[in-house]
Amino acid sequence: MKKILSSLTILALFSCQPDISIDQKVDDIIKQMTIAEKVGQMTQIDHRFLDDHADIKDYAIGSLLSGGGSHPEENTHKAWVDLYNGYQEKALASRLGIPLIYGIDAVHGHNNVKGATIFPHNIGLGATGNPEIVRSVSEATASEVAATGINWTFAPCIATPQDYRWGRTYEGFSSDPKLVLELGVAAVEGYQSSIKKNPRKVIACAKHFIGDGNTTFGTGLNNLVDRGNTKLTKETLKETLIPAYQAAVDAGVETVMASYNSWNGVKCHGSKELLTDILKDEMGFEGFVISDWAGIDEIPGDYKSDIVTSVNAGMDMVMVSGEAEPYKKFMALLTEAIEEELIPMSRIDDAVSRILKVKFRAGLFENPLMDYDYLTEIGSDENREIGRDAVRQSVVLLKNESALPISKAARVIVAGRGADNLGMQCGGWTIEWQGGQGDITEGTTLLEGLIENAPEGIEVVSDPLANSVKGDIAIVVIGEDPYTEFFGDRDSLNIDEEDLQVIENAKAQGMKVVVLLISGRPMNIAPHIQNWDAFAAIWLPGSEGAGVSDVLFGNFNPTGRLSFPWPVKAEEGAKSESLLYNLGAGLSYE
Ligand code: GLC
Repeated sequence: MKKILSSLTILALFSCQPDISIDQKVDDIIKQMTIAEKVGQMTQIDHRFLDDHADIKDYAIGSLLSGGGSHPEENTHKAWVDLYNGYQEKALASRLGIPLIYGIDAVHGHNNVKGATIFPHNIGLGATGNPEIVRSVSEATASEVAATGINWTFAPCIATPQDYRWGRTYEGFSSDPKLVLELGVAAVEGYQSSIKKNPRKVIACAKHFIGDGNTTFGTGLNNLVDRGNTKLTKETLKETLIPAYQAAVDAGVETVMASYNSWNGVKCHGSKELLTDILKDEMGFEGFVISDWAGIDEIPGDYKSDIVTSVNAGMDMVMVSGEAEPYKKFMALLTEAIEEELIPMSRIDDAVSRILKVKFRAGLFENPLMDYDYLTEIGSDENREIGRDAVRQSVVLLKNESALPISKAARVIVAGRGADNLGMQCGGWTIEWQGGQGDITEGTTLLEGLIENAPEGIEVVSDPLANSVKGDIAIVVIGEDPYTEFFGDRDSLNIDEEDLQVIENAKAQGMKVVVLLISGRPMNIAPHIQNWDAFAAIWLPGSEGAGVSDVLFGNFNPTGRLSFPWPVKAEEGAKSESLLYNLGAGLSYE
């Protein structure tokens, strides 16, 4: 690995000595740090909001991030390495030369990066029920993240979504805490595993601590779900939600992100009971707690009191972001709070010690900079094959009246908004924060996959509205437009009228109709499904759409099973007592 010897300070050179323990190194570094340098280490800024790149050196900034849609001017693989190295060199040039750690939401692949493999979102991985494919997907993601120099993904989300009206339902593996625990551990181990060929490491982040998927409808933003209030007794919390975090901690997850929601009326970001008493003291978490994006700002009170409350509660690094409150204001107020002893220095030293230990364990002091040697990892054939396998395993066949697999000689009509729409099949958190429509990155649409993989004698024809070409069978791909976070909060989960019309058109042509649903959650199919010959939920499969054609043509016998129960009325969520399909439902071909 390239090292910039000239810019390594005495400290950095000393910190590479193997015979001194990390704890000892960190203690020695902290003794040398000024209050300003400690404050800098606890500050995380989205690179887009830096006033001046020199601030990284001048303020000894500890971390930068790329939030959703935050990328270099030109979204090329080399540009990402240059962006990372440019910022890291500024950090290494600071008085103590402490490297910065760069975080990103690589939540279904390195999804901010054009050309990266986009894997199924967690709801689809949950439908595989397979920790091995989750581990492989996370390892492949880490290999692509590390290739750009970035060291930290804000993943896995280990929510257990209950109310499907929540726009983040798809970020959860399952409504079942046991499955979330199993797949969450696989993801943490996959992200943090040593990366083939590349000496770099990526660290993971279990999020959002805690109860993000358990809020009460009407208590969230816009009187909906996201960031609402989670009413659970401590006993229930410990029986249902804590185990997945305990398992992630035991698996060595290096960071935990605090959640925007409240627990019994107290903002998680300001809860000492959650962040210190439970997470650090009772559960033994030794990494560091990161806030969510400007998450401390939502604590009742003015900004300075937000800072005091959250840091005293156990927040170690604050994702100020710089979009709302200026990061220099954050650092000034944190410094003031320390000088006024509103926050004890012991708390500050504990936070900085946690941050530095994670940086040592992440190998940042030994390998702070990146070269261009691993860019071929990004979107590699090997990783795309893993993606295609994950897609195959994520398809949940729920109805099949002698329609699938498509094997006999036939003309297959492919219709619907989602048939040839890479953006729609990727969903949110893809290139841009809210995702997008159409050719937003490199990949294979469902239609392309069907055309490329059609067996001899089977003709595949695109007819978006299913009203102009006659065929034997119609595959109609319907579903949700991309959304992320609260943009996806809904009070109703009905199927779009436009989608229903296309299905009607296909039926009017006398064709068998196979409906595929692209969605981040179960939706209201009950009123319509009796008119469909076959139905499969394909969730948000990502860039490797050919995995769906593998199932439709019978090259893969569907094994996907619902990781969320499917109510007659989807708005009733996982706790509904009137289910169309149970948790675990799914058909195979035999
Ligand atoms: C967002 C999300 C969180 C994400 C963070 C950084 O608001 O809540 O999941 O990791 O900000 O993008």
